[in-house]
Amino acid sequence: MKNILILGATSAIAQETAKLFAAEGANFFLVARHPDRLAAVAQDLKVRGAAKVETQAIDLNRLEQHATLLQSATKALGSFDLVLMAHGTLPDQHACEQDVAKTMEAIQTNTLGPISLLTHIANLFESQQHGCLAVISSVAGDRGRQSNYVYGMAKGGLSIFLQGLRNRLHRSGIQVLTIKPGFVDTPMTQHLPKNALFASPQQVAQGIYRAIVKGKDIVYVPSYWRWITWVVKSIPEGIFKRLSL
Ligand SMILES: NC(=O)c1ccc[n+]([C@@H]2O[C@H](COP(=O)([O-])OP(=O)(O)OC[C@H]3O[C@@H](n4cnc5c(N)ncnc54)[C@H](OP(=O)(O)O)[C@@H]3O)[C@@H](O)[C@H]2O)c1
Repeated sequence: MKNILILGATSAIAQETAKLFAAEGANFFLVARHPDRLAAVAQDLKVRGAAKVETQAIDLNRLEQHATLLQSATKALGSFDLVLMAHGTLPDQHACEQDVAKTMEAIQTNTLGPISLLTHIANLFESQQHGCLAVISSVAGDRGRQSNYVYGMAKGGLSIFLQGLRNRLHRSGIQVLTIKPGFVDTPMTQHLPKNALFASPQQVAQGIYRAIVKGKDIVYVPSYWRWITWVVKSIPEGIFKRLSL
């Protein structure tokens, strides 16, 4: 993977994944909202072997700016072999239940923004007939639960969109990878009590890297989440609705 666009490049998981590609001398175009944080990530990747690193600060909720952003990225690096989409937020479920604006904002960041970007990028990749779209969804999208169904719906919708995109782009030789992490110890989850199921961003990055290189369609990271979600999904709805999950 020589030319890599990372959306949400300051994410802890994205940074650890980028380090693995930097060691191979990749070129990067990094996107997130804060220029200072982006500059720090860029500097780190250069030290680790990246050949070229460009950055752009933008709020990815601004859908009308997506086309211009992708034009700038294409101009900077020529074309892309890999797009890693990592931006996202974990909304407060109770706050969303009291304030529909918070629910809509969570859906804008985790579903609508990604869908807009993916639509542009899919057309770009289709015209060049190669590329890998690696998108971080979540195990939370596999079944709606009372404790986080706004986030779960947002990621579940994204996963379904990716499934359709994979089916469309397969004939053009494009990989669409849906990444489903479980709990990861990052700034996003710093307010949550930690338990044995939490993985490190480094561990998750290794799983993402391997799935990209091997051309996988869906990856659970760590892999034991495949079995946890299998159990959660197999509980009949009549029982599931009575559980405190
Ligand atoms: N941590 C977990 O347990 C976990 C589990 C499953 C899935 N995930 C998913 O993994 C991905 C990475 O999360 P993380 O855990 O690495 O969290 P993180 O370190 O908090 O990173 C979140 C990233 O999203 C970016 N972002 C948020 N809103 C944005 C916006 N409107 N425009 C541009 N960038 C925006 C942030 O950039 P700036 O703030 O610098 O702009 C930051 O780079 C997310 O999609 C998350 O939903 C995480």
